Amino acid sequence: MSDVTWIDPGNADQLRAWDIAEGVFWAEEAELFEHALHRYDDALLRAAGIRDGDQVLDLGCGTGSTTRAAAWLAGTGTALGVDLSSPMLAIAERTAAAIGLPNAHFAHVDAQIHPFADDEFDVVLSRTGSMFFADPAAAFSNLARATKPGGRLVLLTWQPPPRNEWFSSFTTTLAAGRQLPVPPPDAPGPFSQSDPDEVSRILIDAGLAAPTFEAHAEPMYFGPDVRTAERFVLGVLGWLLADLDDDARHQTLGALRNDLAKHQTTDGIAYDSAAWLITSHLPR
Ligand SMILES: C[S@@+](CC[C@H](N)C(=O)[O-])C[C@H]1O[C@@H](n2cnc3c(N)ncnc32)[C@H](O)[C@@H]1O
Repeated sequence: MSDVTWIDPGNADQLRAWDIAEGVFWAEEAELFEHALHRYDDALLRAAGIRDGDQVLDLGCGTGSTTRAAAWLAGTGTALGVDLSSPMLAIAERTAAAIGLPNAHFAHVDAQIHPFADDEFDVVLSRTGSMFFADPAAAFSNLARATKPGGRLVLLTWQPPPRNEWFSSFTTTLAAGRQLPVPPPDAPGPFSQSDPDEVSRILIDAGLAAPTFEAHAEPMYFGPDVRTAERFVLGVLGWLLADLDDDARHQTLGALRNDLAKHQTTDGIAYDSAAWLITSHLPR
């Protein structure tokens, strides 16, 4: 990857994660990941207000579930899903082709620096794909430039970890009593856009209108049963077990399975989650 020039060098770690390690796992488990957040989709798409003929950008589209929904709503318009992960984009492309959505397109680009055309999009949306930029100020300036005057920006991002049972439960269980290092709140990662003041500052500095933050709380789905959920959780956070000895690892896995079993519902394994639905627009 040393010869890759289409990403901002600050995003190289994210490229490594999403294009190789995590991205391969996410692609293999595409259905699970897409379904995990499906309860937020109605609110996200309603806020996006996509109309026939719109040009839509889905930022960090992953395997493309929101791009497909956007393409369907855009009708004679188009939806472009962009992402750093080639394995996830391959699934996105295949799925859109299989269901016959010729107006869904995908591109392997770094949204922070990609030279989108000026005023290209009526709607820029993202389902948890906007929190991984090394330089969010540069990224949102680039996205604002690509948004038409009056165009909308709609982001689904996580609220802070204490309001997200899925994250606090799994990290506490897998920490197995160890004190894990806490990344700085503004480091790229799932919680980097959990502070409304900080996000507002970045969007306003990028030329977007002062955003609104709507709090949403929904169960997050981890699969139909403990076995599937364990595979899902360990695929994402299993690295936390790397330096445990065999006994500690055995006990920790047991604790994880117990916790998952306690979260079995009639709809599968579900944990509480809390997100911000952030909406803004480019002033005319
Ligand atoms: C948590 S996943 C969300 C995927 C998808 N939106 C969904 O809801 O299933 C975050 C995605 O953002 C993508 N991403 C991270 N940084 C990016 C960047 N600079 N440009 C484009 N995509 C990026 C990752 O590759 C990953 O697929």
